[in-house]
Amino acid sequence: MTDPGVLKQLQDRYEIPGGLRFEAGPKGLIRAVVATPQAGAQVYLHGAHVTHYQPRGERPVLFMSAHSWFEPGKPIRGGVPIVFPWFGPRASDPSAPAHGFARLAEWHMESATQAADGSVTLVLGLDAAKATNPAWPHAYELRYRVGVGGTLGLFLEVRNTSDGAITFEEALHTYLAVSDVRRVSIAGLAGADYLDKTDGMRRKTQGPDPIRITGETDRVYLNTQTTCVVDDPAGGRRLVVNKQGSDVTVVWDPWVAKAQAMPDFGDDEWPQMLCIETCNAADHAVTLPPGHRHEMRATIRSEPRYGGDPRCRAHVS
Ligand code: BG6
Repeated sequence: MTDPGVLKQLQDRYEIPGGLRFEAGPKGLIRAVVATPQAGAQVYLHGAHVTHYQPRGERPVLFMSAHSWFEPGKPIRGGVPIVFPWFGPRASDPSAPAHGFARLAEWHMESATQAADGSVTLVLGLDAAKATNPAWPHAYELRYRVGVGGTLGLFLEVRNTSDGAITFEEALHTYLAVSDVRRVSIAGLAGADYLDKTDGMRRKTQGPDPIRITGETDRVYLNTQTTCVVDDPAGGRRLVVNKQGSDVTVVWDPWVAKAQAMPDFGDDEWPQMLCIETCNAADHAVTLPPGHRHEMRATIRSEPRYGGDPRCRAHVS
């Protein structure tokens, strides 16, 4: 249950009339509801998880599973989970949570501002006093800036507040909503080397053509800094993921068997999603000396594409 006092405090301190309010979402988890002239969005304090981003007059850009958990201690399935401080399982400790602890923690609000064009920026924070794990026992501070306007801007800052150097992995694990993953193509990763997680982490090289998804796909593209463009002709749009401060891109779709194996995901949901993840992981984990900071940014936008199926361009408020 949501503490009404906590909700009131958030509302009193950060509400922007017509632009930002706080409410209890599923299972009482508190979420920020953002409405700007350009787009609507929702951000949970649980995991600082952006679950919704929808430019005005368009369909949602982010996929959310109808089967997601919304529970303390469990990750939300869809939107943009924040992966930190390790990616995937923790090799040194199989009991540690997959993709780290940041997506399981309750973040706090630091600020909310509105620009002259009506776009809204939220800043959320997390630190070692609130979330830690014996598998990564370091002092740190995270600051996450979410900008909701004509684009969705996501900026994850890591500060090393410990006495020694820290090494971490991180990802903005973006679930994009697509009309049918079998009918999209992904440009931006031609010629890149990747680790194929569906083939024993074998190292392979991407060919020159845009990527097509034809089966379970789980690839860690190394040394990739370019923008990825997901072309969705049937959906009548292109989804563009631009990034900075990130050297790895993960492309993931679970396909049939993996979808069936995930308890918080519908068996038939896999065609509707495609993860293009802005990461630093594997060979590109980040090492920060004490007192230093690192920022990783992803900017996501949708562009209309002419010649698509007009039924897929239906307007939703
Ligand atoms: C991807 C990983 O980033 O996340 C996949 O590459 C993993 O291997 C997927 O299955 C989902 O992970 P989780 O922990 O959210 O089920």
